[in-house]
Amino acid sequence: MNTTPTLLTPMLSSPEAPESALIDRFGRRLSYLRVSVTDKCDLRCSYCMPKGFHGFEEPENWLSFDEIERVVAAFARLGVGRVRLTGGEPLLRRGLPDLVHRLSQLPGLDDISLSSNATQMAKHAQALRQAGLKRINVSLDSLDKACTEKITGRDSLSSIMAGLQAAKRAGFTPIKLNMVVMRGVNDHEIERMVSFCFEEGFVLRLIEAMPMGSTGQNTEYLDIGPVRDHLVQKFDLVPEASELGGGPARYWRSRDGEATVGFITPMSQHFCATCNRIRLAVDGTLYMCLGQEEKFELRPLLRAGIDDAGLESAIKQAIELKPERHEFNHQRHKIIRFMSQTGG
Ligand code: GTP
Ligand code: 5AD
Ligand code: SF4
Repeated sequence: MNTTPTLLTPMLSSPEAPESALIDRFGRRLSYLRVSVTDKCDLRCSYCMPKGFHGFEEPENWLSFDEIERVVAAFARLGVGRVRLTGGEPLLRRGLPDLVHRLSQLPGLDDISLSSNATQMAKHAQALRQAGLKRINVSLDSLDKACTEKITGRDSLSSIMAGLQAAKRAGFTPIKLNMVVMRGVNDHEIERMVSFCFEEGFVLRLIEAMPMGSTGQNTEYLDIGPVRDHLVQKFDLVPEASELGGGPARYWRSRDGEATVGFITPMSQHFCATCNRIRLAVDGTLYMCLGQEEKFELRPLLRAGIDDAGLESAIKQAIELKPERHEFNHQRHKIIRFMSQTGG
C-alpha cells in the first residue's frame, strides 16, 4: 500500500501552562494563533470565496510585519506556542519568508506552520524552509484537472502538483493535504486521494464544508462519518492515539504506521469543547470563532502606540469574548464573511 514513510512525528506536547496562560470563560486554554497575512487569493474555491469578489482589505489596513511580530510575541508571552500563517493565500504576501524568520526567533513559539494552496509553492518552498518553517498544510480537493478547475475556478492542478513536489524536496514534514469533501463534486475521488497520499507520504485530511458566507452555504455538504467507516474497512486503518498537530483532526493510520488519514468534522461531530485557537485577520481583527461574530480590533490600539503590557491586557480582554461553540447546524446563514476573510 505504502512506499514512502509519512515522516509524521507527533508534535511536542504543550508545555505546562504558564501563570499568564490564556484561559477562556469555558476553561479552554488558548495555545494556537492563526495569523492571516492576506485576504487575497489566486484561486476562487467554490466553498470559500465567490467568483468576481473584489471586496479586499485596503493595503493601509494590513498589519505590517512589525505589527504582526509584536502581536505574535505578545501571544507567545501569554503561552501560545503554535502559530499558523493563513490567508487568503499567504504566499501572495510579499516577503513571507522574512516574516517566518522573524517569528522563528521569538521565544516561546515551538510550532510555526503554513496553510497554502501551493500554486506558488514551487517558487518559495526553499526560502520558507530556510527561514524556519517546519510544516505545511495544502488545500487539494481533486486529482482531476477538470474537476480541480471547476472547484478552484482556474486551471491550477499542475502548479499545485509542482508546489507539492517542491515542498517535499525542501524537506517539510509533515505535508498535510486538506480535501473539502463535497457531495457529487469530488466524493468519488476520495479513495484515489487516499492512495495518492499514502504513496506520496502526504497526510490526507477529509474536511466537512462549513456554511461560511454565501459560498460555504451553497456547498454540497457531505457527512464524512460514513466515509471514515468505509475507509477504515477498505484500508484496514486503526485509530492513531497521538496528537499529530494542534488542530481538530482525528487521525487513523495503517497497521504498519506508515500512512495516516485525518477527519475534520465541524458539522457532524464538532470539536468546540476542546477549541484551542484564535484568529488574527490581516486587518488586525481578532476573531474568536469561525462560526460566530465576536471579535476584537487590535489595529487601532497598535497604531495608537499601545505598550506591550497594554497589548497583553487587550488580548486577555478579547479572550473573554470567546463563545462556547459555533451554531452552523442551527443557523446556517448567520456567518456572512467568507473563510478567506477570517483566515483559514
Ligand atoms: P494542524 O496544526 O496541522 O492540526 O492544523 P489545522 O488542521 O488546525 O489547520 P488547517 O488550516 O489545515 O485547518 C484545516 C481545516 O480544519 C480548516 O480549513 C477548517 O475547515 C477546519 N478548522 C480548522 N480550525 C477550525 C476551527 O477552529 N473551527 C472549525 N469549526 N473548523 C476548523
Ligand atoms: N468549509 C470548510 N473548510 C473550508 N476552507 C475554506 N472554506 C471552507 C469551508 N466553507 C478550508 C480549505 C483550506 C483551508 C484554508 O480552509 O480547505 O484548506
Ligand atoms: Fe473553536 Fe469556533 Fe472552531 Fe468551534 S467553531 S472549534 S469554537 S473556532
